[in-house]
Amino acid sequence: MKIARRRILREAGALGMLASVPPAWPQAATACSPAPQCRKDCGPTASATEGPFYVANAPEGVDINPGKAPGQPMRIAGTVYSEDGVTPVRRARVEIWHADAQGDYHPNGNGDISRYRRGEINLRGWTTTDDAGRYAFTSIVPARYANRRRHIHWKITAAGHAPLTTQSYWIEERGTEAERRDFTDRRVEACRWVAFQEQQGTMVGVFDIVLKNHA
Ligand SMILES: [Fe+2]
Repeated sequence: MKIARRRILREAGALGMLASVPPAWPQAATACSPAPQCRKDCGPTASATEGPFYVANAPEGVDINPGKAPGQPMRIAGTVYSEDGVTPVRRARVEIWHADAQGDYHPNGNGDISRYRRGEINLRGWTTTDDAGRYAFTSIVPARYANRRRHIHWKITAAGHAPLTTQSYWIEERGTEAERRDFTDRRVEACRWVAFQEQQGTMVGVFDIVLKNHA
C-alpha cells in the first residue's frame, strides 16, 4: 500500500467513512433529491468568484479547525463526479476555506501563506478524494459577513477535468433577505444550496460536485 493511500484511509477511518455500518453523513440531505437526478438537472457545478480571501499553500487536512476557533461544529462531505454526474473522480484535490463565527478569515487576506506560522492559518485546507470520489471535512459553521450569505469557498482540481472555483450556500437562506442583498453570486443552481442537518450538536451537510471534462 502506498503511503498516500494509507494516509487517506487513516483520515477516512478517523471520520467514520470506512465503518461497516452506513457512514454518519446523510445520504440525500441536499437541496434537491434524489441526488442522481439533481446532479443531472444541475449539470456541472457552476463556478463562482474565489473572492478576496483565497491564499496559496493552505495546509492539507480534513480537520480544518486545528486552531480550535469557537463555533458550532460542522461536517461537510460529498462526492466529486465527472461531467456525466455518475462517474466518481478519484484523487480529486478538494480545497475549502471559510470565515469563522465572527466573519473573519485566518489569515484575513490573500497571497502566499507558506511562510506563515501554523497558528496564523485556520479554517482552510485541502484533501484528496478516495477511490469512490468521496471527501469530508470537519470545521465550524461560518458566520455571515458584510453583505454575504453564509458560504463556503471551494477549489477542486482533478486530472482530466476543468478546474473549478465555486461557493456553496445554506438552503435556509434561499429566497431570504440574506440572499437578496448578496450580489456576489446571483444565479445559484439547486445543487449548491446545502441542507445541513444537526446531528448530536454538529451541523452535517452534503455537497456533491460535478466537474466538466477537459475539452
Ligand atoms: Fe467568503
